[in-house]
Amino acid sequence: MLNKVLNKIRRIIYDRWGSKKGHGCRVTPEEWDNQYLGGQWNKLKSENEKEHYEIIVDLCRKHEGNCILDLGCGDGALYGYIEKYLNKKYLYKGVDLSIEAIKLAKNQYVNVEFEEQDLEIYQPSGKVDIVVFNESLYYIKRPLVLLARLESYLNEKGCFIVSMCEYKGHDEIWRLLDTNYKCLSLDNMINSDGQSWRVSKYVVLST
Ligand SMILES: C[S@@+](CC[C@H](N)C(=O)[O-])C[C@H]1O[C@@H](n2cnc3c(N)ncnc32)[C@H](O)[C@@H]1O
Repeated sequence: MLNKVLNKIRRIIYDRWGSKKGHGCRVTPEEWDNQYLGGQWNKLKSENEKEHYEIIVDLCRKHEGNCILDLGCGDGALYGYIEKYLNKKYLYKGVDLSIEAIKLAKNQYVNVEFEEQDLEIYQPSGKVDIVVFNESLYYIKRPLVLLARLESYLNEKGCFIVSMCEYKGHDEIWRLLDTNYKCLSLDNMINSDGQSWRVSKYVVLST
């Protein structure tokens, strides 16, 4: 209960100030755990979300390299599409703050690497080709600081794939991404519920 109230207060502060500076809005691991246990994110596996995930999978398919790091992977919804649609052998690792989400992912996808970690302090164990932030970057306190830290873990032609739902508060994060990275692709889509997303692929400017 207290966590819910604190999260609401954080959200108000974020909408008024943080979002205008391109900051994200942190949600506690306990709140994420409750949301996963309550089935709140089951909707991400619905037919209505399919096209959105397919855009991300298609970007992975077209990218050179097969090592994918899915940051804020939740219960592994994206991995379900990777397994289904990518025929090449992909090396996938999913990382999430919520132990309950990670448990659900591990139960559903055996022999796949999922790890409970806080992205605010997470250090990958090696270099990767594709880092995906699917609806997770705006929960990071300083999204651009995290990306700058992760640059050194990208292989030479490595990329970031960022997906964020349409929300006024995300505009400044997009502006900072477009300013600090080279945007190689931009997809906008809307589902039958009227929910819209932007999905973009970025590489470091010198690439
Ligand atoms: C809207 S959900 C999206 C989940 C997933 N990308 C998917 O497609 O199903 C956001 C996810 O980001 C995770 N997250 C938020 N803050 C995080 C952090 N600091 N470190 C790691 N994961 C985080 C949450 O636990 C949650 O699973």
